[in-house]
Amino acid sequence: MKILVVGSGGREHTIVWKLSKSRHVDKIYAAPGNFGISSMCKCVNINVTELEALADFAEKKEIDLTVVGPELPLTMGIVDVFEEKGLKIFGPTKKASEIEGSKAFAKEFMRKYHIPTASFRIFENYEDARDFVESNDTPLAIKADGLAAGKGALICLNRMESMKALDSMMVKKVFGSAGTRVIIEDILVGEEVSVMAFTDGKTIAPMVSAQDHKRIFDGGFGPNTGGMGAFSPTKVVNDRMMRAIMEQIMEPTVEGLRQEDRLFKGILYAGLMVTEIGPKVIEFNCRFGDPETQVVLPLLKSDLAEIFLSIVEDELELQDIVWKEESAVCVVMASEGYPEKPVKGRRIHGLKDVRKEGCMVFHAGTSRGKDGHVITSGGRVIGIAATDRKLQGAIAKAYKGVGRVSFEGAQFRKDIGHVVGGVKSSFF
Ligand code: AMP
Ligand code: GLY
Repeated sequence: MKILVVGSGGREHTIVWKLSKSRHVDKIYAAPGNFGISSMCKCVNINVTELEALADFAEKKEIDLTVVGPELPLTMGIVDVFEEKGLKIFGPTKKASEIEGSKAFAKEFMRKYHIPTASFRIFENYEDARDFVESNDTPLAIKADGLAAGKGALICLNRMESMKALDSMMVKKVFGSAGTRVIIEDILVGEEVSVMAFTDGKTIAPMVSAQDHKRIFDGGFGPNTGGMGAFSPTKVVNDRMMRAIMEQIMEPTVEGLRQEDRLFKGILYAGLMVTEIGPKVIEFNCRFGDPETQVVLPLLKSDLAEIFLSIVEDELELQDIVWKEESAVCVVMASEGYPEKPVKGRRIHGLKDVRKEGCMVFHAGTSRGKDGHVITSGGRVIGIAATDRKLQGAIAKAYKGVGRVSFEGAQFRKDIGHVVGGVKSSFF
């Protein structure tokens, strides 16, 4: 089988790595891929938003299955474009992807189907939003409606911070048109977890749980990032909690989307707050998490290509998906200046030595420099992942791997695998 993987991050490197172990897969292409991915398969220089060019490539190369990593092409309708041409592709349609593409849609949907989430208001007009905030000096989460690379939600502890958030989204438009509408919601208190599931729109198969570290600094301080590291599984999601998440959240969501004529096939990712009164949805994503994938797929024993195919063919119920009873950790190394203004073009040293520590390296923002060396080319640069029978063992191994790699200005958190709860402002 020939597979095309769309995307260029650590998540896609992990997907390519796992697919390369499949007995069904003979050849993998990635578009556009990155330096690390190019060592495992052939990278083609087509951007993730060039939907027609991707479909033409898949047709020309007789690709048997295309797998989409990031949300942007999904929300743009890549699955619809491929399916119209009779090409097999793994992921939700444009209509189904709206569960991630529009937070306003997701919130209204959750309200309609009684899926637990924070109570909220939606505003399209700055003056109305400002009036609401002026009369509410309580902590609030203020979010841009559209896609903002995981950075469009601000946690505001008081009126002053809320006014600042509204000003940046609706007046200064720092997230562009994504901030035309804002969602203002109550703060949820608890532990944040990520639960992803494979689904063909009928059967839902949950993956092992994970926790992501979203803020840039240790202890969960500073601005939000795409994710600075992750671990799996998390003890917060024990069997009972997983059952509650499936019954109260995943099942009604998949069923509700089907009722709305938005059949969801692919990866449904629920970002959840496990509160004192049970799990509540912070957000849905329509794809694998990054860096959650880097810790979840190393724990998957089953053949990933077989699972993807079974979903495309509406036969997920026939799959017996098996997980290793181990822990996995991934520490992300990011560029100086990330998340605001990442500095690129720095030479990366020591990558070859990481494997000596028993770690895996998943590349994100890397490329080949003019002199042939590997250089940084994005905000998140690499993820160093390790597995072990115990979480502590996986943490220790991953940090030994991190110790082998260096590039000027590298930023990484020292506390991946340790969660410190509490609500923290986005403004300091
Ligand atoms: P989102 O873009 O909606 O996933 O939000 C980004 C991050 O902000 C989440 O991962 C949470 O850490 C935090 N967050 C968002 N909404 C809330 C909320 N209602 N209560 C507490 N934290 C939140
Ligand atoms: N790690 C968060 C995300 O993938 O959206």
